Amino acid sequence: MRQPIIAGNWKMHLGRVDEALAFVRRIRYQLNGIEGVDRVLCPPFTVLASVAEAIRPTRIGLGAQTMHWEEQGAHTGEISPMALAGLCQYVILGHSERRAANNESDDSVNRKVHAALAHDLTPIICVGEDLAQNEAGQTHEFIGGQVRAALAGLTVEQAAQCIIAYEPLWAIGTGKAATPADANRVIGLTIRGAIAETFGEATAQAVRVQYGGSVNAENIAAFMTMPEVDGALVGGASLKLDFVELVQRAASV
Ligand code: 13P
Repeated sequence: MRQPIIAGNWKMHLGRVDEALAFVRRIRYQLNGIEGVDRVLCPPFTVLASVAEAIRPTRIGLGAQTMHWEEQGAHTGEISPMALAGLCQYVILGHSERRAANNESDDSVNRKVHAALAHDLTPIICVGEDLAQNEAGQTHEFIGGQVRAALAGLTVEQAAQCIIAYEPLWAIGTGKAATPADANRVIGLTIRGAIAETFGEATAQAVRVQYGGSVNAENIAAFMTMPEVDGALVGGASLKLDFVELVQRAASV
């Protein structure tokens, strides 16, 4: 059985310590009390340490939104896996916003996945097709390629530890989520299919795969009823107090 996981990707919001702590202090104990679903907050780097401290008494997980693959070096503005290890447990890698605006490639995502696992960080690897690819019927081929590239060179044990987030680009921040049935099909056939090709069926069944893109408290339950969907990567709705309700509804399915 795969334990579902709901992660809140704050993106470039709540980056000031006072506003991040004000928010976390209002949700932490309720969020902590929810059973049966892993819950993770992924705030900006500037508040990671403060949020880590605020959730220390809880079982809430903490993640970063990106990192470099090298342990240290002359990389101005970058954050290394060594800096994150011990501070948080997860790291989002290959988010489409970073692929589009920060030169993230399949190759750099793969390097980062290796580096994360080497430092006991669980990668949340984002994949997703854009609208043109979707409409041209290229989703299966494109996502399959992203998954194979991200996981290239891992051992079976390492692959099983990864989390994948299926985030179609046209669903991010648009209010137009994929249908739960479509998300279920892409995750089951395409993503687990690609994992199974390289790492075998048991690994494909072990990997947790989230859906992301306009998930909110109203539609989360429909996604959670889908057998292939193991939770959600939530953007905008993770910045509101009713993120707690979203996670409660996810847990009650
Ligand atoms: P929204 O939930 O705001 O659509 O963002 C999804 C996302 O990109 C999470 O990583």
